[in-house]
Amino acid sequence: MLFRAALTALGAATSVAAVTTLEVEGAQFVNSDTGDAFQIIGVAYQIGGSAGYDPSHGKDPLSNGDVCRRDAALLQMLGINTIRVYNLDPDLNHDECASIFNAAGMYMLIDVNSPLVGESLNSLEPWTSYYEAYVNRTFAIVENFKNYPNLLAFFSGNEVIDAVKTGATAPPYIRAVTRDLKNYIKNHADRQIPVGYSAADVRSVLEDSWNYFQCAINGNKNDMSRADIFALNSYSWCGNSNFHDSSYDQLVELFTPTSVPVFYSEFGCNTPSPRIFTEIGAIYGSNMTAVFSGGVVYEYSQEANNYGLVQVNDDGTVDLLADFRTLQNQYAKLNFDSLQSVKASGKSITPPTCSESLIKEDGFNNNFTLPVPPSRRSEAD
Ligand SMILES: *[C@@H]1O[C@H](CO)[C@@H](O)[C@H](O)[C@H]1NC(C)=O
Ligand SMILES: *[C@@H]1O[C@H](CO)[C@@H](O)[C@H](O)[C@H]1NC(C)=O
Ligand SMILES: *[C@@H]1O[C@H](CO)[C@@H](O)[C@H](O)[C@H]1NC(C)=O
Repeated sequence: MLFRAALTALGAATSVAAVTTLEVEGAQFVNSDTGDAFQIIGVAYQIGGSAGYDPSHGKDPLSNGDVCRRDAALLQMLGINTIRVYNLDPDLNHDECASIFNAAGMYMLIDVNSPLVGESLNSLEPWTSYYEAYVNRTFAIVENFKNYPNLLAFFSGNEVIDAVKTGATAPPYIRAVTRDLKNYIKNHADRQIPVGYSAADVRSVLEDSWNYFQCAINGNKNDMSRADIFALNSYSWCGNSNFHDSSYDQLVELFTPTSVPVFYSEFGCNTPSPRIFTEIGAIYGSNMTAVFSGGVVYEYSQEANNYGLVQVNDDGTVDLLADFRTLQNQYAKLNFDSLQSVKASGKSITPPTCSESLIKEDGFNNNFTLPVPPSRRSEAD
């Protein structure tokens, strides 16, 4: 069923209040003004899929103010407070879209990579892609987004590890990219912006990935290569599932001792379709909120893989799909105010120390000697 959103009537997003910059404290995102822990109520925002980023046509998902204004208004109808954007062009100006989402009360999770050649790590042979031009590309994204107060975090990689085979090769490189980004931020940004990894929910490598990135090399918690956050793209709750059958209970158990915030950087299994989104009650219920910091629904626009909440038409209008209304009804059952006004625990958590024995799966990389930054390679050689 389609519901046409008459955009002229709907008008622009309501300006709530510009957001307060969030900080990571222990395993939570914290609003430093209120001292409350923050739950991500997010949507993946990448109109056109990966083709929505097209440097040859000066196009990416956050470069057209009219589009951002239109979509911020629709996302406000859901109660969204965060968007995740995957592929961006560091040469475009994102000021208008960033300020529209900021005024609409929404944070941004930004991926520094893209699927184009030279703009992400090659997971099986990462040494063939870890070059200065690539690292510069990730720095250019940081440079482009670092001053926005509603920037929540950067993802240094997305699903680079998808099996034990890539778990054997990629981890030191992902951790090196995280280090390079954190050093760049330390030297060039006015605040500490969190950096972390967005994992595929592949259970054979999930625990090792989390530990590989959160652990402290030589026990040094402030080691620059240590991730500030850990996120997972999880599709284990499908249809009319529950806390146990979805194995959400196992994820909560796994991540209970986490030293960094953990959240779903994607969720929303679409088999069966249309979706019923009963996982919303679980994600924002008391079983999970002490361990997880919410999640990001995949995804805003309808693309070939059929996960859309809305259909974006060529003439710039948007049709709300059935999943939009269903999701809206599930969010409406939550009390957003009480959800977002739980005092942060204030707990400082000691991360595990990196060691071979921390890694469980045979074949997953357990070497914590990281590749040197490409800019220093000639000196190191
Ligand atoms: C990377 O950026 C640095 C600093 O701006 C510059 O000196 C260097 O030439 C760039 N390298 C490549 C390969 O683009
Ligand atoms: C919370 O966990 C209990 C015990 O596993 C389960 O019975 C209940 O359905 C869960 N609640 C939600 C909202 O998922
Ligand atoms: C760990 O990785 C480093 C850097 O790639 C390498 O020099 C070293 O030989 C590796 N150690 C082991 C035990 O494989």
